[in-house]
Amino acid sequence: MKEKLEAIRETALKNIEAATSLDALNDIRVEVLGKKGSVTSILKGMKDLSAQERPKVGQFVNESREMIETKIREKKDRLEEALLEKRLSQEKIDVTLPGKRRHLGHLHPNTLALEDVERIFIGMGYEVVEGPEIEYDYYNFEALNIPEGHPAKDEQDTFYINSDILLRTQTSSVQIHQMEGGKVPVRMIAPGRVFRSDEVDATHSPVFHQVEGLVVDEDITMSDLKGTLNEFAREMFGEDVKTKFRPHHFPFTEPSAEMDVSCFKCGGKGCRFCKGEGWIEILGCGMVHPDVLKRCDIDPEKNTGFAFGVGLERIALLKYEIDDMRLMYENDVRFLGQF
Ligand code: DAH
Repeated sequence: MKEKLEAIRETALKNIEAATSLDALNDIRVEVLGKKGSVTSILKGMKDLSAQERPKVGQFVNESREMIETKIREKKDRLEEALLEKRLSQEKIDVTLPGKRRHLGHLHPNTLALEDVERIFIGMGYEVVEGPEIEYDYYNFEALNIPEGHPAKDEQDTFYINSDILLRTQTSSVQIHQMEGGKVPVRMIAPGRVFRSDEVDATHSPVFHQVEGLVVDEDITMSDLKGTLNEFAREMFGEDVKTKFRPHHFPFTEPSAEMDVSCFKCGGKGCRFCKGEGWIEILGCGMVHPDVLKRCDIDPEKNTGFAFGVGLERIALLKYEIDDMRLMYENDVRFLGQF
């Protein structure tokens, strides 16, 4: 039995030394020390030995097993070390390689322009509100003095959902929501999307953005309107900008005007940017029409107000000198990355 065990031990030690992988080493361990391994089977045979022999053989078996286990552990450490070394040598880091650039997102020029507009008006005590994009004809037209058959209704090519419900063509509809039921005073701006069935070109899009403004209180006059919008233009386009109010017509304001700013590219001399005019139109405005106030249960003898509407894309195109509105909607990162 002893010779048998010695033979097993010698072979095992030789095989362990020769093993070239962790898997092979494990196979040897199972083969020799496992449940059905050769050493284990010898241990099982010990019950047939005499009482004298048993402790001696037992000791020898234990010594042999320990020897084999130690040898396996040592070999395992060496194999693992070799494996690690091999991996480390293959995984060299080249510190001269250029790093990976992290791409940061940019705010859309429309968003930047809106943030400017909001900052300016919030600074003057205005509230920023929103209104629905899907709107009743009443809010978009009728309450704003644009009844059935009014030419202004045909001018704004409307997307109708049914005869009574439409996609708003102007943020002026928010004026009615804000004043309805006689809620005064009002001092708000209302940015948002508007919809018109226009063909896409360099200056038109079926979806674009407006910012509406409305102030209703006691003793609000045309000079409040002019002072406010002059201040807006200066903060938006620079201290030196000049403004000009041209009489105009909107059904929901009386009197009405359009405001031009002096071309900030040429300072008013006339250039390609302002088409030689020296002036650029940026918004419509006026004193809220008494009939509009009345429809909202506001007494025009007691309260007056002014309103204005700015095309947000127009402001952004001017501010960032973009010459084609389509760029605003194409989400080309080469364009967006410039802001
Ligand atoms: N809603 C007008 C439009 O879409 C713009 C406008 C003009 C709004 C005059 C106003 C205003 O509030 O007073 O063309």
